[in-house]
Amino acid sequence: MSAFIIDGKAIAAKINEETRLEVEKFRAAHGRVPALAVILVGDDPASQVYVRNKVTTCEKLGIASKMIALDADTDEKTLLDKIAELNADDAVDGLLVQSPVPRQIDEYRVIQAISPDKDVDCFSEVNVGKLLVGRERGIMPCTPYGVLELLRRSGISCRGKHAVVIGRSNIVGKPMAALLMQKLPEADATVTVVHSSTPDIATYTRQADIVIAAIGKPRFVKGDMLKKGATVIDVGINRIFDEKLQKNRLVGDVDFDEAVEVAGAITPVPGGVGPMTIAMLMRNTLVAANLRCK
Ligand code: GUN
Repeated sequence: MSAFIIDGKAIAAKINEETRLEVEKFRAAHGRVPALAVILVGDDPASQVYVRNKVTTCEKLGIASKMIALDADTDEKTLLDKIAELNADDAVDGLLVQSPVPRQIDEYRVIQAISPDKDVDCFSEVNVGKLLVGRERGIMPCTPYGVLELLRRSGISCRGKHAVVIGRSNIVGKPMAALLMQKLPEADATVTVVHSSTPDIATYTRQADIVIAAIGKPRFVKGDMLKKGATVIDVGINRIFDEKLQKNRLVGDVDFDEAVEVAGAITPVPGGVGPMTIAMLMRNTLVAANLRCK
């Protein structure tokens, strides 16, 4: 029997519609709309696509957006000065620098330079700290929060379940684990984190009720690594050359064709987690705008 396919595109569209209505309310209350500034340094083609998607989604939801494109040879000081200018700009609610940045720039310093109240990626130490403490529910990490929303809106509870997160990145793995273990109705899971140095990852994933794959390796999770009926969330976006099709295509970190036969529910790539990340970025921009107006 084939698994239930979780339609991230449809769920993200629903969330975006909710955000659009909230943006209208914000405009009525404050006489302006929330605004997001996105800085792109260099000409990485994938980053250009991601940034364009962010800007178009802003337009659809009535959020103002500003795209700042800087040359690939931009030095760190120029970028930090630009961030300082946008931090001080009252018309800007959310600010992000698209990752990766060119080698001459220290990404850590760039992230910490963004004012935490505008850090809509939730990458700064202050916001990651707030996430771990779990007291405030303001700006949330986009992809991990998107995963929780996908599960909640698909009627899949995490409470008391064993969730295995594959990957320990600052963008996905670590905040995903932190969120899943929170004492919240949509989380409350028992969490295991495995990564590139874990021997025999399958030992862990076979015990998982929920597998979240964010390891950046194409089709890493095979059908025989899963427990029958498990929920499989694929965060991976890998561009591979498909020998059969003789062209490039996107695949996740999960071998979908195998996993779909074992899992109870699964996200596809594309059309699973991807659209949720942008939907959560839009939500964060609205949240940041509301918090700044308090
Ligand atoms: N590059 C890949 N994912 C992301 C993200 O979520 N935010 C930013 N700023 N850059 C990224």
